[in-house]
Amino acid sequence: MLEGKHIILGITGGIAAYKSAMLARLLIKAGAEVQVVMTPSAKEFITPVTLSALTGKPVVSEFFTANTGEWHSHVDLGLWADAMVIAPATACTIGKMASGVADNMLVTTYLSAKAPVFVAPAMDLDMMAHPSTVRNLATLRSYGNHIIEAASGELASHLTGKGRMQEPEVIVAELERFFASTSQLAGKKVLVTAGPTYEKIDPVRFIGNYSSGKMGYAIADEAARRGAEVTIVSGPVSIKPTVPGVRVVNVESARQMLAACEEAFSQTDIAIMCAAVADYAPANPADRKIKREKEDVPVINLVKNPDIAATLGARKQPGQSLVGFALETDNEHANALDKLRRKNLDMIALNSLRDAGAGFGTDTNVITLIDATGAETRLPLMPKTEAAACILDAINNL
Ligand code: PMT
Repeated sequence: MLEGKHIILGITGGIAAYKSAMLARLLIKAGAEVQVVMTPSAKEFITPVTLSALTGKPVVSEFFTANTGEWHSHVDLGLWADAMVIAPATACTIGKMASGVADNMLVTTYLSAKAPVFVAPAMDLDMMAHPSTVRNLATLRSYGNHIIEAASGELASHLTGKGRMQEPEVIVAELERFFASTSQLAGKKVLVTAGPTYEKIDPVRFIGNYSSGKMGYAIADEAARRGAEVTIVSGPVSIKPTVPGVRVVNVESARQMLAACEEAFSQTDIAIMCAAVADYAPANPADRKIKREKEDVPVINLVKNPDIAATLGARKQPGQSLVGFALETDNEHANALDKLRRKNLDMIALNSLRDAGAGFGTDTNVITLIDATGAETRLPLMPKTEAAACILDAINNL
């Protein structure tokens, strides 16, 4: 998986920098081309000579070569890379990356990198647990960076706890897994619905729900990371895809969402219906604001909205996969299975409002995947970004 890949190995100033030599060696052995970029303080821990000898490339550390004035272009490096791995990543560099403090070659390269970035933190346990480190790592995650969680064990301080940089073998395996997954959906077209629908009552009021779009956008981002051409048909939300190239079709009502899905579906390999579509819409939305002072309490008659998933399910062709969600409050498995069968789905992702941290608005979810045979796999509480990866893995295995 790493054959021919261009990897920037960023090294910062921590004791674990001695392991970076082994990491460079393993990457080279796996067929990658490795360019080391070190912070000035990293050179206190491991010499550039060792790393340039291992990688066959001069190490980059300064903006200029002192005696010739030659400029080292972080922009070119950022474009060259298929991945950037920062190992070890100290609390200081993580903080600079989170807030864009571009005062060295490593951070400027990070800010210019178009490729996925992997960060392997290494520091003492108290630094690791400090709220600023926790917040900075969460910020990097929100930028789409991959955090290779530090391991627990004996630390340089001789204290024991979380803060050890993962072993080079683990980091290489993580990169291999990543490159394997990015090619998984190459050439596939994926359609995702996300967010709520708004059904107009009058020009200023609507019937809606609490969906934030986080689950659907996480799926769309992950599918794009895996090489798919992704379209999100999105109800009104305040978020955007984080992966470049994801196409967003903005809609408001269930009928508009249906029209956009119908247009895209014949060209789609995998459709994932994550939107919380309103089941009913006002039959006769008013074209002027309903005035409280002048009118009696209005009676709003509702009509049934079209079922988008069922409509696509009826048109599904061999080779197309259709996956739905079920948001339940009770009798979860039976209700989800009933939806899967009625809508001709290949799989349904059940989330229950009875599970803490699941459902609307949260950054986490608790998903149970149910296939057409009724077999279920319950996943633990996890970030929606990880749940998205599990859902796509399961679709791949269908
Ligand atoms: O957006 P978030 O805040 O991150 O929240 C995520 C979520 C809770 C919205 C998501 O995880 C979820 O469960 N989405 C589906 C919610 C829902 O409407 O479930 P349902 O059981 O009512 O619908 C079943 C399936 O049919 C869903 O795939 C739904 O998209 C689809 N449907 C429903 C009604 C309708 N008229 N047309 C549809 O296509």
